[in-house]
Amino acid sequence: MIKVLFVCLGNICRSPMAEAMFRDLVKKEGLEHMIIVDSAGTGDWHVGNPPHEGTRNILKKYNISSDGIKARQIGPVDLHDFQYVVAMDTSNIQNIEKLKKSNSTAHIVRLLDYLEDAVDKNVPDPYFTGNFEEVYELVKKGCEQLLKQLRTTHNI
Ligand code: 4NP
Repeated sequence: MIKVLFVCLGNICRSPMAEAMFRDLVKKEGLEHMIIVDSAGTGDWHVGNPPHEGTRNILKKYNISSDGIKARQIGPVDLHDFQYVVAMDTSNIQNIEKLKKSNSTAHIVRLLDYLEDAVDKNVPDPYFTGNFEEVYELVKKGCEQLLKQLRTTHNI
């Protein structure tokens, strides 16, 4: 199984959007038996909460289910449990790096690092910008490239 964990700050806006969209993509491509998708936040403020209304609305608009998604906080075990820890921005990466232990094996990367032509590799935080549509477009492109990369790397 290939395990992918999307990470942002609060785990209510960007990473649950990525989780829902990547799971949808994986399912549409018939790879759900090979790829496990989850998300988490570096902060603990929203643990147990469903995605932000803005994220739920944009997912609904594009017919993508957010059922069952609840915020949780990332911990050191995740860096051993998941092969791919995919962060939304550089500050997430810095916070994730602090959790590393000697058994951490995850490949830690920003989602937009998969987009060669992206000038800014950070997904802007809609919790502060209010622009969920912009995030949807960026996450969509990032997820498509991530899946392409996984297909190549793992020969699937
Ligand atoms: P997210 O957005 O990291 O995309 O889930 C945020 C959600 C909540 C907070 C910050 C960012 N907060 O400060 O509570």
